Amino acid sequence: MKDVDGIFLRNSWYVAALGQELIDGHKVARTILERPVVIYRGTSGRVVALDDRCCHRAAPLSMGRIEGDDIRCMYHGMKFEPGGKCIQIPGQDAIPAKLGVRSYPVVERYNMVFIWTGDPEKADPSLIVDYPPLADPSWRGLPGYMHYKANWLLIVDNLSDFAHLAFVHTNTLGGSEEYAYKTKPVAIEKLDDGFRVERWHLDADPPPYHRKVIPNKTDRIDRRNIGRMLIPGIFLLDSMFAPAGQGAEKGVAVPGTRQYRNAQFMTPETRSSTHFFWNYLHDYDLDNPNIAISLRHSLEEGFNEDKDIIEAQQRVLDEDPNYPLLAIGADAPLTYFRWLMARKLEAEKTAARAA
Ligand code: FES
Ligand SMILES: [Fe+2]
Repeated sequence: MKDVDGIFLRNSWYVAALGQELIDGHKVARTILERPVVIYRGTSGRVVALDDRCCHRAAPLSMGRIEGDDIRCMYHGMKFEPGGKCIQIPGQDAIPAKLGVRSYPVVERYNMVFIWTGDPEKADPSLIVDYPPLADPSWRGLPGYMHYKANWLLIVDNLSDFAHLAFVHTNTLGGSEEYAYKTKPVAIEKLDDGFRVERWHLDADPPPYHRKVIPNKTDRIDRRNIGRMLIPGIFLLDSMFAPAGQGAEKGVAVPGTRQYRNAQFMTPETRSSTHFFWNYLHDYDLDNPNIAISLRHSLEEGFNEDKDIIEAQQRVLDEDPNYPLLAIGADAPLTYFRWLMARKLEAEKTAARAA
């Protein structure tokens, strides 16, 4: 397949937009894996994703007009149906069959739009990541979006090591530098499509973002993070804060435990910029809307701390792309993930050559 470039894994689902971005006929113009795409919801409710370039004179279709489920280019008026075929040329009766734009498979799930920029024949919706808390009303959260001027794998690297919580997020998500010194991943489990890590911090102070939303602010907690990083860049984090010293680490269901579920989706915009979609869900005091708002705000604050350091890292690497990076023990997950990614890219290239 000519699309395969060896940089992006094409045959994979990526989050392209949040459901809330498509309200009231809004058209999202977004570069995804270095392709300009327009995404909109047609009148029937169907979500459509098309190449954001008219096949006539390359005017952006995102400047066009939605008509039913179709879109009309507002330069010379050509109209395209959701499959990308041109169905009307004002003033011209015959429409050559080849006139049209590329249409991308999309699926709506978890109030997000997933897009497939690879071979449409392989776009199997069952390959979309399964993360039940995103669809479960016993978890509550507010979805968010951020833009990074950095390659998506630098964000993956960041999320692969919880020790950065201690230094980057001391006053927000981490709580203390002690977290890096005292805690170690219990195990790094290599998966076919990523890895899983688990880390406990026993008898700790609640970190600032959690302390803000709980009444018992000084009670010590046992903190557990289980992270999963999945190809092509999906991070799922299950966090638990249990009252300290009551055996949570031995599997005891300790009363007063509060939990979070966090999903983060990294969609390459280009090879040096990334769309970052996320939701941080909580499972307690669901009738208090201020908790989700506070958590959303705290997480944004934390992600901005990541963004500062990751974008700076990208600038350094841009100046000297061959600067050798030396690994430490904590890099095992990111090294594995990058190896896995390289293998999947290679497999995609080999399959494309054979096709
Ligand atoms: S550029 Fe779209 S109709 Fe001419
Ligand atoms: Fe972080």
